[in-house]
Amino acid sequence: MTPRTLGPFQVSPIGLGCMPMSMNNDKVYPDEADAVATIHAALDAGVTLLDTADVYAPTWDTFGHNELLVAKALKAYGPLPDGLVVATKGGITRGPGETWGRDGSMAYLRSAVEASLRRLDVEVIDLYQWHRPDRSLDYGEVVGNFKTLADEGKVRCVGISNANLDEIRIAQDVLGPGGLVSVQNEFSPSHRQSEDELRYCVSQQIAFLPWSPLGGTGGGARDVGSRFGVFAEIAAGHGVSPQQVVLAWELSLSEHVIPIPGARRASSIVDSAAAADLVLSADELARCSAAG
Ligand SMILES: NC(=O)c1ccc[n+]([C@@H]2O[C@H](COP(=O)([O-])OP(=O)(O)OC[C@H]3O[C@@H](n4cnc5c(N)ncnc54)[C@H](OP(=O)(O)O)[C@@H]3O)[C@@H](O)[C@H]2O)c1
Repeated sequence: MTPRTLGPFQVSPIGLGCMPMSMNNDKVYPDEADAVATIHAALDAGVTLLDTADVYAPTWDTFGHNELLVAKALKAYGPLPDGLVVATKGGITRGPGETWGRDGSMAYLRSAVEASLRRLDVEVIDLYQWHRPDRSLDYGEVVGNFKTLADEGKVRCVGISNANLDEIRIAQDVLGPGGLVSVQNEFSPSHRQSEDELRYCVSQQIAFLPWSPLGGTGGGARDVGSRFGVFAEIAAGHGVSPQQVVLAWELSLSEHVIPIPGARRASSIVDSAAAADLVLSADELARCSAAG
């Protein structure tokens, strides 16, 4: 697998989205041993980017569940792969009665990053992403708060998520040249609305991390081949899964695209990681692009 650039890091072209192990639309969770085995299988398959978030948890009162799981799996793995990057996110709140909110204030983010550092059991977070805009605050001011966390050495680099073009440009201005390492937006055959942001990131050499790259939990990813038949047809010709074709197509869009497919099962991420080695013809890629 030829690595891809994520700010100062070189990572595997396919990352592991850890969310489904703690939060998914089926509301079915692996037990801890199986979840740890899935993370280990990802590492064994050469995956060196893990994506988590403080808010990924089955319930509001288990906030931080996914970060704790990632930390536990890494501790149990033995020597970690060189260049392993753990990316997390902050800025979404969750309280009693499953009340969800957003908070981009400096005071909140400072406490959130300290909590993530403790749960991940690290001294610095590799990539800290602003999870979702807090529309009650000025966008640039909140990005400035993330910059403060980087300046203070709590986080090595900063990314944003669920951002539109204007917001990406503001983040670039506030963080300065090369300061915005990644944009994580929804992108898949069933969600092409982030194409402008993808293209802009490519033009700026910013890593674009498609979230729900297969169509999401709860059936979207599972059914991608039946919803978008072209991926299943091409897959059959190569003897691989439709999901692998989707990821290979996304990888082909640019060297700055790093999909982060989620997985509960080890077999899912092992299959997804193999997309990095799947070569599709120009005609097949054009058919994928035309789908959806
Ligand atoms: N920034 C944000 O706002 C945001 C929002 C949502 C998600 N995310 C991130 O994006 C990551 C991915 O998104 P997602 O998990 O929602 O959706 P997804 O990656 O589109 O789909 C995940 C589901 O696909 C299945 N799957 C994965 N690879 C497969 C394969 N090769 N063959 C068959 N099935 C496969 C998995 O099944 P099994 O579970 O059965 O293994 C998993 O439940 C998340 O884990 C999270 O890190 C970010």
